[in-house]
Amino acid sequence: MNTQTPWAYTETVKDHFFSPRNFLRDGENFDSDGTGVVGSPACGDVMMVAIQVRDNRVAACRWRTFGCASAIASTSMMSVMATEDGGMPLTRAKRIKPEEILERLGGLPERKFHCSVLGQEALREAVLDYEASHE
Ligand code: FES
Repeated sequence: MNTQTPWAYTETVKDHFFSPRNFLRDGENFDSDGTGVVGSPACGDVMMVAIQVRDNRVAACRWRTFGCASAIASTSMMSVMATEDGGMPLTRAKRIKPEEILERLGGLPERKFHCSVLGQEALREAVLDYEASHE
């Protein structure tokens, strides 16, 4: 095995993979205002995002997934972006782009780009779920 091959992930990706932020652990209670679940047709992975909403902002964002390291790092970063600076407005949270997450991560290997959409799509579904019950 060639141990000289450079690691393909940025330090930020590794940090969020090894220490995922806002991960919802087994048995942990989270009183969600909206929940979204999506799957990736490319690999069959599933992502769940749950949010708490205050004043039309994302007050808390928790998630769990069967996805790979890139999906974990991307969703961890997405959850940070959604909740920083007092919480992202819901109108903005619905439109967060994978490119924005990739930029904060310092990039992903090209074959892993599709993993970064899982968390963002599940977040949008969670916001829509919240809005459907608060019209
Ligand atoms: S989420 Fe399926 S390969 Fe990354």
